[in-house]
Amino acid sequence: MPYYPDDVVNEVFAENDIVDYVSQYVRLKRVGRDYSGLCPFHREKSPSFHVSGEKQLFHCFGCGASGNLVQFVMRVEGLDFVEALKLLAERAGIALPEEGGADDNSHALKKKIYEMNKISARFFYDTLTKSPEGKIGYAYFTERKITQKTIITYGLGFARDSYTALHDFLLQKGYTDKEMLSAGLVVERDGKIYDKFRNRVMFPIIDLRGNIIGFGGRIMGQSETPSGFKLPKYLNSAETPVFNKGRNLFSLNIAKKSSPFSIILVEGYMDVITVCQAGIPNVVATLGTALTEAQAKLLLKYCSEIIICYDSDEAGQKAAIRAIDIINAAGGRSRVIKLKGAKDPDEYIKANGSAMFLQAVSEAKASTEFRLDILKTKYSLDTPEGKAMYVAQAAEALLSITDAVEVDAYINRISGETQVNKDAVYSEYRKRLSNSKTGEGSRHINREISSPQGENVHAAAALPDKSKKLIAAEKKLIYLMSRNKKYIDTVRENFNIEDFSGEIHQKLVRIIFEARDNNTLIEPSIVLNEFADSEINYVSEIFYNMEEYADNNAALFELINNIKLEKLSEKIESEKDPMVLSRLVMEMQELRRNR
Ligand code: GTP
Ligand code: MN
Repeated sequence: MPYYPDDVVNEVFAENDIVDYVSQYVRLKRVGRDYSGLCPFHREKSPSFHVSGEKQLFHCFGCGASGNLVQFVMRVEGLDFVEALKLLAERAGIALPEEGGADDNSHALKKKIYEMNKISARFFYDTLTKSPEGKIGYAYFTERKITQKTIITYGLGFARDSYTALHDFLLQKGYTDKEMLSAGLVVERDGKIYDKFRNRVMFPIIDLRGNIIGFGGRIMGQSETPSGFKLPKYLNSAETPVFNKGRNLFSLNIAKKSSPFSIILVEGYMDVITVCQAGIPNVVATLGTALTEAQAKLLLKYCSEIIICYDSDEAGQKAAIRAIDIINAAGGRSRVIKLKGAKDPDEYIKANGSAMFLQAVSEAKASTEFRLDILKTKYSLDTPEGKAMYVAQAAEALLSITDAVEVDAYINRISGETQVNKDAVYSEYRKRLSNSKTGEGSRHINREISSPQGENVHAAAALPDKSKKLIAAEKKLIYLMSRNKKYIDTVRENFNIEDFSGEIHQKLVRIIFEARDNNTLIEPSIVLNEFADSEINYVSEIFYNMEEYADNNAALFELINNIKLEKLSEKIESEKDPMVLSRLVMEMQELRRNR
């Protein structure tokens, strides 16, 4: 990971305004000194998400998500710190120092590959829309009811039936064979270089930053050649330094734009494109492989539930069940659509129109219900053996549900379907639940920790188990010290760094004291960069969420007194020596008098 000097980081912060940036994602309204809108990180109907231009921080009072601009970009774009910083630097026209060393090579190569992909996509697009060789591709899209507008939206293209067209074009642009091979745009066979994609309509695959990372190409018509040799119907770019099939999704760059509640997951590129063309942009597909947990997690950053709409054949339905498991493991919710009378969403929309498809989406079944339906077809519920097997499997299917009321509802239902006593169904369920403590159970814990609120809890848990009052008072003190140098001096006269509770508070106080030694105050939004991802909500809230007092100075002394009292009363509780105890009690009385 490259390291950037503080002044560069400060410049990136200085040149980007959080209110301005967040406005691209959230409709913000002015409230007092802040702005507020609907939180992009959790589902809500009334706005609890706040942005402060003065503090350059965001804070959601609903879910606890909090942080500075880079952290907002990290969350909303799914980037790491360096990537987010780069994005903001670019936006402000700031040149970040080049990364040195071994990393440099791979960085330069990645850049080259993005470049080659981009101009190749342009070449395919021009071929499709402007050249005689592309007419057949254009006719193919037209036959499949793809409009000109959709071709532009997706940057669709055509790779002509040639072994050398793209290779020649890229050579002429100055790229070497080695570079083209590393981008997977050409392949080498018997010492010769060939275009990888031939006679195919082309689908560029674009990541969340707008880079073209690879391509999918569909053969014209059927995949059987006259000689009987079968070409693959779809051909995808091989994995390259920029193309990881298990970590990217087709069209997520478009789907995420509408901040959707749910995202529809389909099997194929054509499904995505047809659904989007029908006015439903929150749709994605995997890149020719089964859904991975990394993809599910990525999707869940941008929506609250995933609606699986795979092909209606048996293979599609089996894949749907696997996808449910993956999404569960990623801590998410899913629903499933089984389309009737059509093979896939593309055919369904062409036959029935988008309104019917939307209807099917709204009727998507909860994943557990979908599972139970499939199980029911497997066993004969007329026999005791069939019932027992169904109940056992059904109980298993309930393990991923975290809501007790929901579990209860399903148990009622299973009991009703089978005429098996509810208690018996329950005991099947409980038996499995206790067996899965390490597996399924821990997943739920993970999910809590990774939720924004959970992160807060997590950070607080890192603090020693002192009284909540003490922690709250320390937080206020830290906040006040971030506002006024005099307050720092006053606190310093009364406490050492070690008097504060836990690593996070101590680290903050240390940074504040150091700043004071340099005769400055801390910049909360910048200080946040020094904390781990799991600590950020907690720290940011200290700076965002604090009330201002009518008289800060008086409040400061009261807080200091309260903290001392709190600490003293802890000491008194554990003190056994009567002599020491009486001294402590006197000290306590003295402090009380000062209040
Ligand atoms: P159309 O016939 O164009 O409508 O295709 P489809 O979208 O109905 O595709 P299908 O259900 O056959 O396949 C779904 C997805 O699986 C495609 O979008 C590809 O990503 C992938 N896929 C299909 N065929 C192949 C293949 O031959 N090779 C590879 N690698 N992937 C394929
Ligand atoms: Mn299809």
